[in-house]
Amino acid sequence: MCGIVGCIGTEQAAPILLEGLSRLEYRGYDSAGVAVFDDQAGALSVHKAKGRLQVLSDQLHGGADLRGTVGVGHTRWATHGAPSDANSHPQVSHSGRIAVVHNGIIENYAELKAFLMGQGIPFTSETDTEVVAQLIEYFYEGDLLQAVGRVLHRIQGAYALGILCADYPDQIVAVRKDSPLILGCGQGCSFLSSDVTALLRHTRNVIYMEDGDLAVLTREGIQCYNHLMQPAEKEIVQVDWAVDAAEKGGYEHFMFKEIMEQPEALRRCLSPRIQKGEIVFEDFSLSEDYLQKMNRIYIVACGSSYHVGMVGKYHLERLTRIPVEVALGSEFRYMAPIVDKNTLVIVISQSGETLDTMAALREARRLGGHILSIVNVVGSSIARESDQVLYTWAGPEIAVATTKAYTTQLALLTLLALWLAKRLGTISDADYQAGVAGFLELPGKMDETLSHRDDIQYFASKYFNHDSIFFIGRNLDYALGLEGSLKLKEISYIHSEAYASGELKHGTISLIEEGTLVVALSTFSSLFAKAMSNVVEVKTRGASVLALTTQSHREEMAQTADAVMTIPDIHELLLPSLGVVPLQLFAYYVALMRGCDIDKPRNLAKSVTVE
Ligand code: F6R
Repeated sequence: MCGIVGCIGTEQAAPILLEGLSRLEYRGYDSAGVAVFDDQAGALSVHKAKGRLQVLSDQLHGGADLRGTVGVGHTRWATHGAPSDANSHPQVSHSGRIAVVHNGIIENYAELKAFLMGQGIPFTSETDTEVVAQLIEYFYEGDLLQAVGRVLHRIQGAYALGILCADYPDQIVAVRKDSPLILGCGQGCSFLSSDVTALLRHTRNVIYMEDGDLAVLTREGIQCYNHLMQPAEKEIVQVDWAVDAAEKGGYEHFMFKEIMEQPEALRRCLSPRIQKGEIVFEDFSLSEDYLQKMNRIYIVACGSSYHVGMVGKYHLERLTRIPVEVALGSEFRYMAPIVDKNTLVIVISQSGETLDTMAALREARRLGGHILSIVNVVGSSIARESDQVLYTWAGPEIAVATTKAYTTQLALLTLLALWLAKRLGTISDADYQAGVAGFLELPGKMDETLSHRDDIQYFASKYFNHDSIFFIGRNLDYALGLEGSLKLKEISYIHSEAYASGELKHGTISLIEEGTLVVALSTFSSLFAKAMSNVVEVKTRGASVLALTTQSHREEMAQTADAVMTIPDIHELLLPSLGVVPLQLFAYYVALMRGCDIDKPRNLAKSVTVE
């Protein structure tokens, strides 16, 4: 959602800003804009356009038209005011002196706007952001930092801000509260961005701003201040992501690239954590005392990360016999959750910035829970606010629809379940060893699953014209179906639902008619016979069945289902980790055949930083 970039150096800023914004396109947006300080005119030059970044870039000839070596840029995902040139950022104060780019929401903007309008200040947009630009100007008496400080005392909500002032042509002011902002420290140049991927081409030395931080970026370096406006020393962190990790590398879509990267991502995630047949979390542990008192586990997440939690619940309860609740980040704080100091709260997030998940984390912390997060983006807000973090090490995920983050989150949560069971003594040695052996096979078996992608492409070509698709499964296969269904609907725009197979006869079966496509998931061997009965049940009512099962059940399933996708046999714990791959590929190929914008599906954002 919304992306901010900023740079100050010796090179022309506009092409750098546009290139940086192109790296943030995946986050989701509907308009874009840049502001640079034009040193010959001695004023800010602001350009904005509704629609794709390319529209703006074409207008500015790739940025070549804009003079100046300092500027900020923005991709906007509309919240206050429809997508339009006027509502795009940067938002500028009435005199044109101050330009602001903003991610987040200013909650009390209406009240502040009414006040400013009462002072005769004209507004040109419907945005909450314009209030910030106008308010800085209102308080400005020649000292920019002082004016910004006064504004920060008055605005409420979430914000990452990049601020330019025509009277301060050699600096950019950055502010962060509840919305990510990262600073890049170059040689003779400084950068800001809401996402590290936009900085990688310029520098690997970054500062993760914390809530309440303010920073002044100059060519000579970056000075940070805390919420009391006192100078603050900040750690400079080296980012080790490869520059090309955030590029397509010859693939047509990021999503396909990321699907294909999964075996490698799993090797990165798992191999340091399995040593000589033992699970080893070098960066994480729980004391014997805590484990003995642990009375409940809560898993909190949104979207696909929530689906990981759904699988995790089955694994954790089966292996540890501790009650596990899975809650949506957006619901958690409104449901009076039962959390105390003996509750382990597992927070799952790829981006580490999802606002609802973050709010749930804070609520869980307030209630005294111990927070362990499973996160992909190093240094993200959720990672920083957790008591402990397990990183997935999946590398940058650019496609909006998550794939390799899902599989690494799931692998890590499953590994954690096995580790906890061992520590709690709720698993036999033989079962533990069998589980660990399964993990060692996982990346190779995922390679094998991916090598059958042509079969999935064929099934997609058979079924891509359906308007409504049902996913059914029991237990692990139900949790898997939730993810398969979400993947399909978000990128192909086909209506789809996932149901626990046993629920069909309680209502849903009335929707099954001649030709309805049902994706029947039956990878979980112990429930295969039950799954078969459900396949027969829907076939009898005219459904076409595309089944997913393991190699060893393929033949039997093929006697009833119309088409069968298969995965290699693997330890039961890891069936969903393999099973999701054909479902990702199916969604991908269906969306491809329907001509959808796969990496940037409509209305969606990669990192959901509003409630
Ligand atoms: C779906 C998808 C989303 C995210 C959700 C949570 O493909 O990517 O449903 O899983 O927005 O995002 P994170 O994991 O970044 O908190």
